Amino acid sequence: MNTESDAVNTLAADSQLVRKHLAAVNLSAQMDAEQIADYKARIKVLLKEKDAVLVAHYYTDALLQELAEESGGFISDSLEMARFGRDAKETTLVVAGVRFMGETASILSPDKTVLMPTLEATCSLDLACPIDDFAAFCDAHPDREVVVYANTSAAVKARADWVVTSSIAVDVVEHLAAQGKKIIWAPDKHLGSYIQKRSGADMLLWDGACIVHEEFKAKGLLDLRAVHPDAAILAHPESPAAVLDIADVVGSTTQIINAAVNLPNESFIVATDKGIFYKLQQLAPNKRFYIAPTAGNDATCRSCAHCPWMAMNSLDRLYQSLLSGSNRVSVDRELAKRAMIPLQRMLDFSAQHKLRVAGKA
Ligand code: 13P
Ligand code: SF4
Repeated sequence: MNTESDAVNTLAADSQLVRKHLAAVNLSAQMDAEQIADYKARIKVLLKEKDAVLVAHYYTDALLQELAEESGGFISDSLEMARFGRDAKETTLVVAGVRFMGETASILSPDKTVLMPTLEATCSLDLACPIDDFAAFCDAHPDREVVVYANTSAAVKARADWVVTSSIAVDVVEHLAAQGKKIIWAPDKHLGSYIQKRSGADMLLWDGACIVHEEFKAKGLLDLRAVHPDAAILAHPESPAAVLDIADVVGSTTQIINAAVNLPNESFIVATDKGIFYKLQQLAPNKRFYIAPTAGNDATCRSCAHCPWMAMNSLDRLYQSLLSGSNRVSVDRELAKRAMIPLQRMLDFSAQHKLRVAGKA
């Protein structure tokens, strides 16, 4: 039988896998303005021809977010991406993001074609939670409700009772704790600790982390705030506890954007992927945004506040995928049916409960 120390060993191996994968990431070449305009025009034609709609995450390249807006598509956090994809009238969804987002779209819309600019774009949380180890961990604690983050494989979702995104994780766990349920949480340990602190729930945490958010440092944030004393700190809950403790607002990407728009502050220090700056600057053009300092700079930081897998989504890859129908997401039908149950629970729960932003600001 697998033990928790087996799981820890697996995670050490997984972090090597992350490093290996990162070394293989090959970003597409820079394009000039003419090439960009040309790709965008061709993609817009193809979207119409193929009855397709583009759904992009806030962390993707600004060009893709722009294109989603210009072509009648959608930019959002992972929860809203799932909902939009399910409700879209088009028969093809083009998902610019990471693999779990494409898989979720495919599970929720089994009759739609789901394409991605690349199927290589994964997530360190997904990598840190292999199904066999996770299933053994769950089997060892049969008295616990299994709640997993959306940033997981379809197989892990299929093993769960609930799937949650960061925008509703606290609400779902509070709801379960109020019924006296004990929880297994995976894979993000920082988000898990944050939920535990907020909800008071009895939770066993898996030991995964996001390579982007884990690099934000409380000391660097405080130093930056000393220079900009009126700035509110906005942090994604995948950040370490020391960062969340000093944040004025903790929330999902959409909740961070809403806070920036609605708070009276004129400046903000933002502890999440810098792809979000496209939307922040668009919706609050008169406010100032500073990226939270990471553990190092350039060669000395792993992510430098930008997810390397999100960065793999490019205009040329999106164009190729649409043109040839390549990079089609496929989830085994039986697995998809099982993963649909906790995903549907999440969507039903979020439809019934008003979402809220945590924080002191
Ligand atoms: P959101 O659900 O806030 O969009 O986050 C997804 C994600 O991958 C954060 O790193
Ligand atoms: Fe995964 Fe982190 Fe990238 Fe989000 S930012 S997709 S959690 S690695």
